[in-house]
Amino acid sequence: MSLPDKGRSTEELLAEITRLRRDDLPVRGGKVTAYVYDTGRPEVHEAAARAYFEMLEVNTLDPTAFPSVVEMEKQVVGAVAELLGGGWGIFTSGGTESIMLAVKAARDSGKTAGRPRMAVPVTAHPAFHKAAHYLGVVVDAVPVDPVTFRASPAAVEAAIGEDTVLVVASAPSYPQGVIDPISEIAAIAAARGVPCHVDACVGGWLLPWLREAGANVPPFDLSVPGVTSLSCDLHKFGYSPKGASVVLFADPALRRRAYFASASWPGYTVINATVQSSKSAGPLGGAWATFQALGREGYLELGRTTLAAARTLREGIAKIPGLRVLGDPESALVAFGSDEVDVFVLSDEARKRGWFLQPQLSYAGIPANIHITVTGVTLRGVEAMLEVIAEATEAARGRGPARLPEGLVELIAELDLDALDDETFGELAASVGVDLGGSGQPEMAVVNAVLDALPADRREAVLIRFLSVIYS
Ligand SMILES: Cc1ncc(COP(=O)(O)O)c(C=O)c1O
Repeated sequence: MSLPDKGRSTEELLAEITRLRRDDLPVRGGKVTAYVYDTGRPEVHEAAARAYFEMLEVNTLDPTAFPSVVEMEKQVVGAVAELLGGGWGIFTSGGTESIMLAVKAARDSGKTAGRPRMAVPVTAHPAFHKAAHYLGVVVDAVPVDPVTFRASPAAVEAAIGEDTVLVVASAPSYPQGVIDPISEIAAIAAARGVPCHVDACVGGWLLPWLREAGANVPPFDLSVPGVTSLSCDLHKFGYSPKGASVVLFADPALRRRAYFASASWPGYTVINATVQSSKSAGPLGGAWATFQALGREGYLELGRTTLAAARTLREGIAKIPGLRVLGDPESALVAFGSDEVDVFVLSDEARKRGWFLQPQLSYAGIPANIHITVTGVTLRGVEAMLEVIAEATEAARGRGPARLPEGLVELIAELDLDALDDETFGELAASVGVDLGGSGQPEMAVVNAVLDALPADRREAVLIRFLSVIYS
């Protein structure tokens, strides 16, 4: 874009945004089964949008300048603490930031002589790897049970060493939607004097409602002995606009370890609860309004429909020839794999039919699969979703697995990426039929098959290059 010489009208700008969003996936309606969370109640999203807008220009940087921020945050964090076993919290921009702060607090309270380490199940979200990377902590990967996909307490225990500052468990983990054995893992951590973080980014504002609606949900929150911190995203099953999460600490002293202050400069005093300094209070306003607009009754009703949809989906998928649900997910996340059809082709076939089903690569012995996040709006379209999955499965069977040009995987595995500029990388991708500059509905099966065939560190290098190319 070049900056226009003269300012343009709002109508013109909005028309242009509509044009820019032409190829975006829809954020409402339930046909996109990842990234977006739809209550199916436009009036709730409207309330959130208006409150967001109202708080948009308020800066959370200085709570003494904008006391509305403190009051709203206390109300939102208070509601989360009330549902999840108490504690002292911080409103953050998302799961990654909540996790970052929990890792920082644990690192800064750990009394290790050596480099701090944390025990992280392989199914835990990459936000832990990111936090480790940013904060200088080493990750000790913990295997999960190959059938249930839950972290094994014995493996967690084996991973704890002298320098372990944090043990992690998920409620649920994203890939298969299963809840790790939180009570056992937290007890082991406590016995070894190590803090334990429960990543309930997905489940924190979902599992209590599912439990109330009749699901069998084991204890997972701060009321479990040994759990010292917990993350709960409101922009997931809280149905708030993006930029909303809460991290809770069992102890105010631990929360203080997450804070940051600096007086080491001649400017204004800096005191931050979060990674970001200046930021809009819009997301806080949006989360606050969503809580108020839905209330207990609204969330419980969403829990009921979500539970019914997740059950229908699991049972329906199990009946489709060639597909199998992975594990026995207690939450609203469902993953399925296949020994008969290429799931990446299946995902492309679903997308052609207007549905986005998220492909997941194989990792740590877990096969490639398709992930679906069931939300409040899923139930009304669940039969249609099952029909599309069945059709896409048959279409994928007919097409056979994605065909990779001979030698491509070996070529990429051995490629010296540092010696290639972005343009050459883009040309190389185009030469094997992958258009990195394209828009619309991309066929991703070849890309996913290539990534799937590479080891994780190589996948990461290729993904970083991909990002660099699409932003060039
Ligand atoms: C279990 C879990 N933890 C953490 C995160 C990271 O959340 P965010 O994308 O809000 O940073 C996610 C995101 O999907 C998640 O599923």
